[in-house]
Amino acid sequence: MTILLTGGAGYIGSHTVIELQQAGHEVVVVDNLCNASEKSLERVQEITGKPVPFYPVDIRDRIGLEQVMEQYDFDCCIHFAGLKAVGESVAKPLEYYDNNISGTLVLLDVMRKHGCKNIIFSSSATVYGNPAVIPITEECPKGQCTNPYGQTKSMLEQIMTDMQKADPEWNVVLLRYFNPIGAHPSGKIGEDPNGIPNNLMPYITQVAVGKRAELGVFGDDYNTPDGTGVRDYIHVVDLANGHVKALSAIERNCGLAIYNLGTGQGYSVLDVVHAFEQANHLTIPYSIKPRRAGDIDACYSDPAKAERELGWKAQYGLLDMCRDSWNWQKNNPNGYQD
Ligand code: NAD
Ligand code: UFG
Repeated sequence: MTILLTGGAGYIGSHTVIELQQAGHEVVVVDNLCNASEKSLERVQEITGKPVPFYPVDIRDRIGLEQVMEQYDFDCCIHFAGLKAVGESVAKPLEYYDNNISGTLVLLDVMRKHGCKNIIFSSSATVYGNPAVIPITEECPKGQCTNPYGQTKSMLEQIMTDMQKADPEWNVVLLRYFNPIGAHPSGKIGEDPNGIPNNLMPYITQVAVGKRAELGVFGDDYNTPDGTGVRDYIHVVDLANGHVKALSAIERNCGLAIYNLGTGQGYSVLDVVHAFEQANHLTIPYSIKPRRAGDIDACYSDPAKAERELGWKAQYGLLDMCRDSWNWQKNNPNGYQD
């Protein structure tokens, strides 16, 4: 298939380019580089040996998108482009709604105009809010999102659901990611956050590389076995493969389909710290800090539907994720600036 990847220079997008190319697909990337470096795509090319056609276009730029659409006959779009920092979204709601919602509306309209009515969308387990039941199945009702970022995911799911209902020619696959960590085993690409990392694994790797003194563990009084928050961490290469497998749903004209992409296994913050230490023979200093606003006790998936319908199942374990995260960070202490 010929596939348009919006946000394809970013963390999950760049890993997905590799898996798609290796599965024989043609990939074209559109990214405005607001949170990425073009170097990620150069590294992808080093890994796959195939060029990655790249257009530095903002998805809100209708003319720019149309120019790309006119050059190719896309079978499907995998839509990663968006802003994703939870805390920043609370401070800058208009920027988040504009980028994520307006951008997606322009993209969908241009796709429709060019007769490409297949989309795979990067959604998030955040749409479940504080889940009613865990492990979380796709039938679990959506919950209250505590921040504008989460709202954009939930709203975009609704927008695409309504669109597909009105025009059944569309195939819409909503992929609800749990917590992607890890990096390509080559150590050439990985997560490269700006400034102080918000998320657990990049914070741990920056402590390990000596950029930060210690990890703050946000709360040890949650309703979990060791009191720290439990999440479903998934290796980014497994996640990337989930997109390749999701193309099979598009091929069988799924209409609207929703899949969790997680491992089904929950680990606490301290489990991750200890696994990182074990995998890499390092010590991670940490101290317990107050809870972070908006955090929940536990969130992990029931991934059975993706296995049943897409033939997709996570292959990597927590030690692999910790090893590959560190391999990327130690080889690239300053990310793509190295
Ligand atoms: P990322 O920031 O590395 O990638 C997003 C990419 O989109 C970046 O390269 C950025 O430059 C680009 N982008 C942003 N706005 C754009 C615009 N208006 N036009 C063109 N390009 C634009 O983030 P990621 O971790 O790779 O996440 C990819 C997608 O998955 C996002 O939609 C994110 O919300 C979603 N997601 C991520 C996580 C996670 O924990 N990483 C979890 C759930 C869902
Ligand atoms: N944590 C710490 N210290 C840190 C960072 C995180 O203790 O410095 C803890 C958090 O309190 C939480 C766990 O580590 O218990 C995971 O936190 P992350 O910030 O890595 O991930 P979240 O589960 O909070 O959220 C992430 C993304 C969201 C996405 C969600 C579900 O940031 O965008 O996963 O996919 F919606």
